[in-house]
Amino acid sequence: MAEVLERTPDLDIDPYDDAFIADPYPGYASMRSAGPAFYMPKYACWGMARYKEVRPALLDWKTYGSGMGVGYTHFGKEKPWRPPSLLLETDPPLHDRTRRVVDRVVFPPALQRLREPFAKEATAAVERVVAQGRFDGVKELAEAFPLKVFPDAVGLDVDGRENLLPYGDMVFNGFGPLNARFKASTATASTVVPWIMAKCSRAALAPDGLGAEIYKAVEAGEATEEEAAMLVRSFLSAGLDTTVAAIGSALYLLATNPGEWRKFRADPSLAKNVFEETLRMESPIQNLFRTTTREVELDGLHIPVSEKVLLLLASANRDPEHWQEPDRFDITRRVQGHVGFGVGAHVCIGQVIARMEGELLLTALAQRVASIGLAGPPIRRFNNAVRGFASLPLDVRAA
Ligand code: HEM
Repeated sequence: MAEVLERTPDLDIDPYDDAFIADPYPGYASMRSAGPAFYMPKYACWGMARYKEVRPALLDWKTYGSGMGVGYTHFGKEKPWRPPSLLLETDPPLHDRTRRVVDRVVFPPALQRLREPFAKEATAAVERVVAQGRFDGVKELAEAFPLKVFPDAVGLDVDGRENLLPYGDMVFNGFGPLNARFKASTATASTVVPWIMAKCSRAALAPDGLGAEIYKAVEAGEATEEEAAMLVRSFLSAGLDTTVAAIGSALYLLATNPGEWRKFRADPSLAKNVFEETLRMESPIQNLFRTTTREVELDGLHIPVSEKVLLLLASANRDPEHWQEPDRFDITRRVQGHVGFGVGAHVCIGQVIARMEGELLLTALAQRVASIGLAGPPIRRFNNAVRGFASLPLDVRAA
């Protein structure tokens, strides 16, 4: 059977190269035109970049497993750099059990109590930058706001929160090959990692936060104490860099698309859609791996069992076969179906929290800012998986 199948086409492309990361979109177009799947000799792994294949692969956890890691490292062949996540890097049945524990904590009605404190902080954060006029959109909004509301919601005390972003940077770099970029981000690992693990313990968490809610599963006999700590770690790993990147990209897109900004100003209720369109245009998690659990045949192409496949979510979200004018930022677009939060068994478990942050911060912006523009060249953040800015100089005028 296998010998009648064609070999997947080779593509001499490096998605971890600085130039690629600076502007990945031409690279994604080449990947999509290579066919349903392609092979990257440099990394000896496969890739899928078209919506038509990426979405079904995300849905098919039986064929494209997560248990061997959702990064480049194949857990069956190499030791992971940190103990694997009990959510992200597992398959059913273990995944079903851990997911149930966390699903209860992030059940949307249970999260409504976060709206008021998030809205209050969003208003305060926007008022602070409006008073300044010129500011760094990354440091002073995209980081400042989630860095306050998210650890508060989890139930972390205020000491040492500066460790959260370096930890996230390390985790997301760790989804790529363990290259120089990853190694540089582990420079502070000896202080950051023990700090994170200490904050995941029951004793470190406020009794009314989401972290303490996870520990209720221990009393209910649904998880061990160690598992609960690891599930809190999932929140601290995935919950911050992603929203920081999304908010930074939303600010950039609004500042550089004055027509869309005017529409948004006229109707701040578009905030939710502005956030979704941002996730489509500049997907915070650009790519994730899966590992084939069996030999795959795809339109006559052949991927052997136990191979790493890079799923390019960001490319699927800009696929012209699926989206009209995919490179245009359109805040009134029907954006349902984007894969910025993934889809299927592993779909983002923090999406309600992320959307709440995005909606409330952008609403506060549209209500209080008359104009927004770049005050200098933005500086890109280089990470193996996350797309965002390191710095975004902005000018705003009060409404
Ligand atoms: C805009 C912000 C966010 C984006 C773009 C995002 C994106 C994603 C994506 C693409 C996945 C799927 C991973 C996969 O299929 O392998 C995912 C899973 C996950 N996300 Fe998010 N995320 C965001 C915010 C958050 C927040 C705020 C939290 C924490 C509360 C969070 C926690 C998680 C966890 C724990 C998983 C693993 C779920 C599982 O494997 O069952 N994320 N996220």
